Amino acid sequence: MTSLRINPSILAADFVNLEAELQRIASADAVHVDVMDNHFVPNLTLGLPIVRRIQEVSPLPLDVHLMIEDADRWAPQYAEAGAASVTFHAEAAAAPVKLARELRGAGSKAGMALRPATPVEPYLDMLAELDMLLVMTVEPGFGGQSFLDLTLPKIRRAADAVRGAGLPLVIQVDGGITEETILRAADAGATVFVAGSSVYGADDASTAIAALRSAAGQES
Ligand code: DX5
Ligand code: ZN
Repeated sequence: MTSLRINPSILAADFVNLEAELQRIASADAVHVDVMDNHFVPNLTLGLPIVRRIQEVSPLPLDVHLMIEDADRWAPQYAEAGAASVTFHAEAAAAPVKLARELRGAGSKAGMALRPATPVEPYLDMLAELDMLLVMTVEPGFGGQSFLDLTLPKIRRAADAVRGAGLPLVIQVDGGITEETILRAADAGATVFVAGSSVYGADDASTAIAALRSAAGQES
């Protein structure tokens, strides 16, 4: 069966104890780092200097999610900082094909994210330029929101297009992923799951990660 990946989001972690918070999720597949600029979304988190430091101490590869304007200008620097994957928002990129090529050229995987109301259809012809498509399952900006079931048909349509074209691209979902919602996203075709509150809100993060894997149908 397809291998599923759980990428906990440090948005729900204790920002003052990040090094210890990274150790709590060592059984995950990557650490999801939410970069917000208070313009693309109404929230502000962290930027390049902190991401560089996380990269130095993290036991896991970095999955950087940029919720920032002018992604064309800033995203390549996160790839150069060593992030395993860098995801920009389609709504914030003027030249997404050029940007995806730059990210790959800088040695990271190229991801592109879609807000819940952004359709995938205008981007179908560029899927081969991407390693990952992030279908947001909440409005980006904050953790702890409820999963939007209205995104499921889009995940399905994207997965069908990826399968039809025989592409290696993976579909990531982000927002409201819990033991209760993860199977719906997996059944629709997602294989990479971002989980903030459901992992960092648990007493034992590794138990929460294992529970998500099993709820998504992954055998342990
Ligand atoms: C939201 C962020 C998510 C967030 C998910 O804009 O992109 O990564 O941390 O948090 P939960 O899992 O709590 O919905
Ligand atoms: Zn995110």
